[in-house]
Amino acid sequence: MIASASSMQINALHPIKPMFLLKPASLRPSRIRCAAATTKQSKRYSITLLPGDGIGPEVISVAKNVLILAGSLEGIEFNFQEMPMGGSALDLVGVPLPDETLLAAKKSDAVLLGAIGGYKWDKNEKHLKPETGLLQLREGLEVFANLRPATVLPQLVDASTLKKEVAEGVDLMVVRELTGGIYFGKPRGFGTNEDGEEIGFNTEVYATYEVDRIARVAFETARKRHGKLCSVDKANVLEASMFWRKRVIAIAAEYPDVELSHMYVDNAAMQLVRNPKQFDTIVTNNIFGDILSDEASMITGSIGMLPSASLGSSGPGLFEPIHGSAPDIANQDKANPLATVLSAAMLLKYGLGEENAAKRIENAVLDTLNKGFRTGDIYSAGNKLVGCKEMGEEVLKSVDSQVAAAV
Ligand SMILES: NC(=O)c1ccc[n+]([C@@H]2O[C@H](COP(=O)([O-])OP(=O)(O)OC[C@H]3O[C@@H](n4cnc5c(N)ncnc54)[C@H](O)[C@@H]3O)[C@@H](O)[C@H]2O)c1
Repeated sequence: MIASASSMQINALHPIKPMFLLKPASLRPSRIRCAAATTKQSKRYSITLLPGDGIGPEVISVAKNVLILAGSLEGIEFNFQEMPMGGSALDLVGVPLPDETLLAAKKSDAVLLGAIGGYKWDKNEKHLKPETGLLQLREGLEVFANLRPATVLPQLVDASTLKKEVAEGVDLMVVRELTGGIYFGKPRGFGTNEDGEEIGFNTEVYATYEVDRIARVAFETARKRHGKLCSVDKANVLEASMFWRKRVIAIAAEYPDVELSHMYVDNAAMQLVRNPKQFDTIVTNNIFGDILSDEASMITGSIGMLPSASLGSSGPGLFEPIHGSAPDIANQDKANPLATVLSAAMLLKYGLGEENAAKRIENAVLDTLNKGFRTGDIYSAGNKLVGCKEMGEEVLKSVDSQVAAAV
């Protein structure tokens, strides 16, 4: 099923709704609870909040309030459970992902994460780093598909470091494989080679099921966008990439309506800054996706604006801004909360299937930007500089004004 061209253009921020990623109703606890209910008021979801470190608590606090308001307008109630994670969990209980946190996350309908990490824990051993907790969380939730939209909003086109004519209208989605490849492949480690010299080594490896499932997510995503999928690999050099390409081509037979192309990763890195408008949906492995999704996000020029969704075949999705804990501006009311607010919108749309509530949030963000409110990271002359809290209040006012409009 292909969305019509007009419907695909309606939502510039998140133009797709991959229903294939939603669990069947039988697997969604809150849906089961609601199955017999007929009134909107009875919808209730449990959300695990992981504020984390640095600016994490500041941006999560804003996103939580926005979720509550937008949800209430759609008859949705949330049970929030806030759990420690990252550096704050290390300080509290000595591990970056306490068992209780993972358990709570697994039991909930969706997980909203702020950010983790900071100078204080930088020198910790690997298993005691905040970032290790994040990898454990993704693994524990079995979220293998990471969706990262990079959309240049007309209001922020000047924030891009690319020329206006190159950046204007960019609207792409990077689908990154998240739980396989060289970040997890074995063998890995340190050793010595035959000359007795020290070496470090990792393994890039993908099994059929891993490529097939991420390829399907990507084809479905492309199908609901503009029907174009570019698979990025290094098949001219790496056997793992040759295999990746073989499987993507095999899965393409299930999606004859999607136009598939292939690109080597070095060329893709170049094309993203030369002519990013050529891309609709990109699918790639873990390490290339890590790099390319960061590069794509910089086309928008605003790290504080970019949300992400990590989804599995079943179980709750993990929603988080792409930025880190920004220790340089933590506790100064300078953080841009919009990436987390938009992550909350992705949570509603992709995690819970609550598209109307998501739309309320997306509209409120656009409205707030249209009114000229800007945090420092996206500020330009002629706009109104605000802090994290005030930006949050303005978004809430915009969500509220939609009520007035509706009434
Ligand atoms: N998913 C995550 O939680 C995640 C992701 C990346 C980095 N990190 C961790 O975050 C810490 C800091 O990393 P970093 O400095 O490389 O990346 P960062 O994203 O935290 O910050 C990079 C720059 O962008 C700015 N910035 C980031 N988010 C912003 C926002 N919402 N509003 C305004 N400005 C914002 C920061 O002030 C900084 O100048 C490290 O410990 C790193 O490991 C965590």
